Amino acid sequence: MTKLRTFVLRAFALSLLVSPLLALAGEEGAAMESAQIDLTDKASLQRGAELYMNYCSGCHSLSYQRYSRMGEDLGLTEEEVKQNLMLSPEAKIGETMNTGMDPAKATLWLGKAPPDLSVEARTKEEGADWIYNYLKSFYVDEARPLGWNNTVFPGASMPHVLWEMQGVQHAVTEPRHGDEPCAKGEFQSQCIVGFQIPESQKGTLDAEQYDRVARDLSAFLAYTGEPSATHRESIGVWVVLFLAFFTLLAYLLKAEYWRDVH
Ligand code: HEC
Repeated sequence: MTKLRTFVLRAFALSLLVSPLLALAGEEGAAMESAQIDLTDKASLQRGAELYMNYCSGCHSLSYQRYSRMGEDLGLTEEEVKQNLMLSPEAKIGETMNTGMDPAKATLWLGKAPPDLSVEARTKEEGADWIYNYLKSFYVDEARPLGWNNTVFPGASMPHVLWEMQGVQHAVTEPRHGDEPCAKGEFQSQCIVGFQIPESQKGTLDAEQYDRVARDLSAFLAYTGEPSATHRESIGVWVVLFLAFFTLLAYLLKAEYWRDVH
């Protein structure tokens, strides 16, 4: 084999190995804001877990996630998990994270049973970015049964459970141009172009702090969708380094073997 051909083959093999990483980096929801989650940021995942338990677990279950595994992955001791994250007195450390909400009652109250969120980030094309944008897109709509609507999930039966932190968003609209569909959704026959929070309805957090809340929650749900991702990504770097080193070694060995032949 000529040197050039060997080189081309090697480069091709290496690109096959690296390309999934590049594809991952380039993937992003169409018109969605990136959540910029970092699954190696344990502090963010811990904050996300706490927010989840306090604001979401009352309605949603995480039936593939055990408290004990979450503790290990997030770098928390069993005691810390028990103290801060297990809100139900009946919950056991080895159990999955169920909700106390009865699905029949939930349907009666909310019109729909809250779905399990274990793999929510994976069911959406935009992944965790979808959840991030969803949590930032609730606005007042008196025409809805609970008074809330959402541009990312129009007609959602979920109320805005984080409104005290974010404040109360109102849709800012503009008349529609001809027959064109509205990019961000529709409100009272006009197109939504943004949101605005009146001074008297400001939340306890500013926009940047609320973004962090939405980011931590979406990071936590990305983690529950793939609990091994936190480990796998850190192993990946070593795998690629090893392969590069091994390629070099194989090349040197080959050069040594063929030296006398040429
Ligand atoms: C009061 C009960 C309630 C609480 C609390 C609640 N949700 Fe929901 N959630 C619902 C319901 C009901 C739906 C189903 C909406 C629908 O399909 O119309 C839903 C849907 C969702 C969905 C979309 C699921 C899908 O269909 O793909 C996500 C994501 C979600 N919730 C995240 C959260 C997060 C994160 C929190 C905590 C900050 C939370 N929810 C708190 C009731 C709740």
